[in-house]
Amino acid sequence: MTDITILQANLEDLTEILQLQKQAFKTEAELHGNYDIEPLKQTYDSILSDFSTHSFLKGIYENKIIGSIKYRSVNDATWVGKLIVSPDFRRQGLGKRLLLEVEKINPEANKFQLFTAASSIQNIRLYESIGYKVCNKYKDEAQAGLEMVEMIKIIK
Ligand SMILES: CC(C)(COP(=O)(O)OP(=O)(O)OC[C@H]1O[C@@H](n2cnc3c(N)ncnc32)[C@H](O)[C@@H]1OP(=O)(O)O)[C@@H](O)C(=O)NCCC(=O)NCCS
Repeated sequence: MTDITILQANLEDLTEILQLQKQAFKTEAELHGNYDIEPLKQTYDSILSDFSTHSFLKGIYENKIIGSIKYRSVNDATWVGKLIVSPDFRRQGLGKRLLLEVEKINPEANKFQLFTAASSIQNIRLYESIGYKVCNKYKDEAQAGLEMVEMIKIIK
């Protein structure tokens, strides 16, 4: 774990991050038997567009990107998304480190918010373990009516 460095990602990292995203969400798709999810279908142009509105962090091990997260501050809220860790490096705390790094980088935020699939019990538990709470449930029509939850962590 100590050999993993977290840095800001740049434009040149996007191809590798997108590749890791597809690999990371494949296990999520297998778990729920649903491959019709946006992270598996996202194109390079789409992640490039995300890069113009969001910052990305990358977790590096031996020059390879093994984790990533994106975030964006809007007024007093920081929105977090696309938390991914390579299947080979899971359950070692990197997901939590990436989430906490976003909080450290955004000390002015009053709240942190994210969306995740309602069926992703393990992900919800990870977010709850660092203070997020489910605040809303809805169906995402852009993802074939996939049931989603919105989670929020209030800081002040
Ligand atoms: C969600 C995801 C990023 C989590 O990454 P991760 O690095 O495994 O996360 P962490 O290691 O911080 O925490 C995961 C679990 O490992 C446990 N863990 C952390 N360090 C550990 C260690 N040293 N030994 C054993 N378990 C450990 C945590 O307690 C947590 O357990 P819990 O689920 O029982 O509460 C990863 O599973 C992933 O990429 N999933 C696919 C994409 C996805 O669904 N992303 C979220 C979209 S909203």
